[in-house]
Amino acid sequence: MASFLKSLFTNCACPQGRMGRLMLKFMNLCHAPLTNWGLNIAGIQDGWTMLDIGCGGGATLQRLLKRSKGACVYGIDISEESVAKAKKVNAKVLDKQVFVCQGSAEKLPYEDGEFNLVTAVETVYFWPDLPDCLQEVKRVLKPRGKFVIMVEVVDRNSMWTNVVEGMTAYQPIQLQQMLIEAGFTQTEIHLKKPSYATVIGIKK
Ligand SMILES: C[S@@+](CC[C@H](N)C(=O)[O-])C[C@H]1O[C@@H](n2cnc3c(N)ncnc32)[C@H](O)[C@@H]1O
Repeated sequence: MASFLKSLFTNCACPQGRMGRLMLKFMNLCHAPLTNWGLNIAGIQDGWTMLDIGCGGGATLQRLLKRSKGACVYGIDISEESVAKAKKVNAKVLDKQVFVCQGSAEKLPYEDGEFNLVTAVETVYFWPDLPDCLQEVKRVLKPRGKFVIMVEVVDRNSMWTNVVEGMTAYQPIQLQQMLIEAGFTQTEIHLKKPSYATVIGIKK
């Protein structure tokens, strides 16, 4: 049982195979409360071009699309399994309004200044060099574009960081500090019980 759970949860970092597919289904449902709350704070406007990094099973792409008439939404994920699931979930609008590709937050395959909004839901824990990735996020944002980070694991010694390999938890204040150091302005922290955090930074 313990090894089954460990193997299941290790698929949070990079979903693969049958367990990965199971985890993606689970995350599409279970991350809804955090994501809906965070996106409602983000002040999304019609016609925006938006990117979700670490898009997993693609539910956030749907949630973004629902909040912005005439939007274009991009998703990127390091896992082939996540990309396949995100494409399936968004099949009706795929390659029309929703575009999904495989890749990493470290090197985003987009032009400078493409996006009004970049989101990252439950994924920054796994990004290899967060300060470098923040520079990459800033590069692809338009001037005044927003980066919205949503996390629910904010304690370095949580059960999750012990169970999920390669996971680093950041306190909201640490994420805010990193955003400031990366050159973002008007940073904000929003908190909600049980341990939801949305941390926002704006590109100058
Ligand atoms: C816990 S899941 C969250 C998925 C989705 N955002 C959600 O809320 O359901 C983390 C996702 O981040 C992806 N990921 C991990 N490291 C990444 C990186 N360096 N660049 C892009 N995606 C990454 C994983 O493959 C996985 O799909």
